[in-house]
Amino acid sequence: MDNNPVLKLGEKEVTFPVMTGSEGEKAVDARKFRQESGYIFYDQGYGNTGSCESSITFLDGDKGILRYRGYPIEQLANYSDYVETAYLIIYGELPNAKQRYEFGCRLRENAAIGTQMQRIFYSFPESAPPMVMLASIVSSLASYYPHLATNNFEKDLENFDLAAAVAISKIRTIVAIIYRYRNGFPFIHPKELPYADNFLYMMFSEQYETFQPIPEVIRALNLLLLLHADHEQNCSTSTVRMVASSGANLFTSITAGACALSGPLHGGANVAVMQMLQTIHAEGDDGTRFIEAAKVGSKSTRLMGFGHAIYRNFDPRAKIIGKACDEMLTRLGKSDPLLDIAKNLEQTALNDDYFVSRRLYPNVDFYSGIIMRALGFPTDMFTVMFAVGRCPGWIANWREVASNTKGRIYRPRQVYIGPTKRDYISLDQR
Ligand code: SDX
Repeated sequence: MDNNPVLKLGEKEVTFPVMTGSEGEKAVDARKFRQESGYIFYDQGYGNTGSCESSITFLDGDKGILRYRGYPIEQLANYSDYVETAYLIIYGELPNAKQRYEFGCRLRENAAIGTQMQRIFYSFPESAPPMVMLASIVSSLASYYPHLATNNFEKDLENFDLAAAVAISKIRTIVAIIYRYRNGFPFIHPKELPYADNFLYMMFSEQYETFQPIPEVIRALNLLLLLHADHEQNCSTSTVRMVASSGANLFTSITAGACALSGPLHGGANVAVMQMLQTIHAEGDDGTRFIEAAKVGSKSTRLMGFGHAIYRNFDPRAKIIGKACDEMLTRLGKSDPLLDIAKNLEQTALNDDYFVSRRLYPNVDFYSGIIMRALGFPTDMFTVMFAVGRCPGWIANWREVASNTKGRIYRPRQVYIGPTKRDYISLDQR
């Protein structure tokens, strides 16, 4: 290890092994650092720390590259659909015709929510936040499918194919029922339809006299879900791995992911972007005033949908969704003033040194709300839509943890900055 990194700590010298990823990324292997030096590394938010080795998704934030199992997101967006991409992310290869057919059958066979489980929805106030309902009801899958959720990795992996299909199919149906319940509509039982068609059928079918999904709408929904399907070790996916590392079953682990996704800086950003655009529109602004406020730097006035923890260039998904917004609205003969405002914000920000110097570009959330709005999804359903899209990524990451026989429970350390040792003081002395 002659040219390996060496860290001098007083009299001590620690030499580190180096790991090299399949795309040439380098990592200093610090797994023995504490036992050899007595020190730990401090990396708030883990922005410089690799928590795992993974074969699922590769990102290059500087070059704006995103690949699922080696396939560029641009090609999958052009030629694939959500179910095929979900299979790829989970199993590592594009399915052949037989595999695709069998996977589709498993999804259709597990689309319905039973009457006993439907009762859970009624325990929520109709005003309940959709992500709160989603997390609670996805979590309940472990009680309705105990044989798929034993908290014993060996057993749970034996039943993985069915558990994965139950998770992906039910989360979509749960979202449809959440929408129906919160709007006082009767629930619609799934039909023998493809995944995205069934989703729209269960959400909106009484709005189509005889449900005839519009090809452009089905294509846009597949694209939206596919683009959200995985994204390396983002906050929610890392949470899934953290919970899975304790031996927790698939349903419980993806529930934790949904909880992490609900935050406004992560999956909640698509709602914040829509609210931002609607505020700007209501004020008769074209976004110019808002951009100035966003440069103050406080988290509460940020240009939502801009910036990313990894991308220091364009988020490739934002480019694809922005183009799809234009195409779909044109084909549907619709226009949306919010799209015009978003485009103006993008152009203004991309020519403003505050954003350029901080390498802040549109991310996946900047345009996704406009497509969802055009598809008929209300703003408060945007984050649960993101969760449906991200489900395959969470499942694939759970499987990597569950299959890793040398895996360890996640247990980060800390730098303690609290009070040093002190003795108890009786109440009458305080
Ligand atoms: C997702 O990780 C993933 O992969 C996530 C995701 C996925 O698919 O799973 O891609 C999905 O979560 C996309 C991100 C959605 N969130 C938003 O759009 C919220 C708005 N963006 C941010 O709050 C922010 O950009 C983050 C949280 C996304 C990233 O934050 P960082 O990299 O930690 O950046 P930072 O908070 O350290 O900010 C660096 C500087 C600061 O200014 P200075 O202190 O240097 O003066 O950039 C500024 C920030 O104030 N800044 C912004 C800004 N984002 C960062 N200023 C205005 N508007 C913004 N949006």
